[in-house]
Amino acid sequence: MTELQEVQITEEKPLLPGQTPEMAKTHSVETPYGAVTFTVYGTPKPKRPAILTYHDVGLNYKSCFQPLFQSGDMQEIIQNFVRVHVDAPGMEEGAPVYPVGYQYPSLDQLADTIPCILQYLNFSTIIGVGVGAGAYILSRYALNHQDTVEGLVLINIDPNAKGWMDWAAHKLTGLTSSIPEMILGHLFSQEELSGNSELIQKYRNIITHAPNLENIELYWNSYNNRRDLNFERGGDITLKCPVMLVVGDQAPHEEAVVECNSKLDPTQTSFLKMADSGGQPQLTQPGKLTEAFKYFLQGMGYMASSCMTRLSRSRTASLTSAASIDGSRSRARTLSQSSESGTLPSGPPGHTMEVSC
Ligand code: BEZ
Repeated sequence: MTELQEVQITEEKPLLPGQTPEMAKTHSVETPYGAVTFTVYGTPKPKRPAILTYHDVGLNYKSCFQPLFQSGDMQEIIQNFVRVHVDAPGMEEGAPVYPVGYQYPSLDQLADTIPCILQYLNFSTIIGVGVGAGAYILSRYALNHQDTVEGLVLINIDPNAKGWMDWAAHKLTGLTSSIPEMILGHLFSQEELSGNSELIQKYRNIITHAPNLENIELYWNSYNNRRDLNFERGGDITLKCPVMLVVGDQAPHEEAVVECNSKLDPTQTSFLKMADSGGQPQLTQPGKLTEAFKYFLQGMGYMASSCMTRLSRSRTASLTSAASIDGSRSRARTLSQSSESGTLPSGPPGHTMEVSC
C-alpha cells in the first residue's frame, strides 16, 4: 500500500492578466523502491487523462520541463489537463544525499513506481511526456500497463541497452571526463557544448554544483545499465498507444530515435525531427514542440480545432511532413498552418515532421 505525505504547497507560475492562480502541490509517496516525489499542477478534468512527465538524468522536473510548460502557447493546452511531474528519487529539490552503497532503483523499477503515484491520486490514464531516461521509464511503464497510457511523447529515447562497444566508449570517456561532463554530453550536442551559450553555462552550472551530485550519478548508472526495451515492429513487444517521437537533428540520440521509429508501429507513431533545436528541444524550442504536441492531442481527439483558433492565428511557421515508416527524410507533403481557416493540420499518427526554425 502506498503512503502519501504532502510536503509543500506552492504557486510558482507568474500569472497572465485575468488568469486565476493554479495550485501546485508537491507530494511524496512511499513505493517498494523508496520515496518518490511528484508535483501536481491544476485540477483533474473529467474524462481526460493526466499529463505525466518524467525528466532525464542531471535534471529534475523543473529544470527539464518548466520552459515547456510555462511557454505562452502551452497555457491553452494545459488548462485542459491536470499535470503530474515526477522527480526521480533523490532528484527533487532539497533531496538528501543517499548513503554510500545505497541500492538505487533500476529504470524498470522506477517505471514500477508509477502505479503507486496513480493509485494514490486515483488517476486511471495518462499521456506521458518523457525525456531521455524519463522517456525510457514511461515506455517501460506503457509496455507493462498499456491500458492506462493514452499517448506518449518521447524525446531523445534510446530503447537499446548499451552494447559492449558502447561500454568501451563509455569507459574510455570516463577516463578523461567528469560525471557532470559525461551527463552534459548525454544532454547536449558537442556543437552546443563547445558553443557554450548561456543555456549551456546555466545547465553546466546546475549539474556541476548540484548538492545531490552523488544521487545524480546513481540515476546515471541506472540509465547506463538499462535493459533493451526489445521493441519489434509487428511483434508482441510494442507500444500500442499513439506515440510522438521527438529528437533534434543534431542531438546526441538522433540515430537511436530514428532506429526506435523504425521498430514502432507506423500507424501509431509520429516522428518529429527538429532542426536547430540541439539536444533538449523542450528547452530550446518550446514553441515548436508545443505546436506539435497540439497536433498530437488533436489527433487523439482532445483539442478541438475551435479551441486552437487563437494559437493557429498567432503562427507563421510551417511544419513539413514526410510520409515515412522508417525515418527517411523524403518530403512528401507539407503541412502549413492556415491563418485563414483557423484550423490546424491533424490526423492519425504515422508520419515524420521536420520542423525548421
Ligand atoms: C505546469 O504548469 O505543469 C508546470 C509549471 C511549472 C513547471 C513545470 C510544469
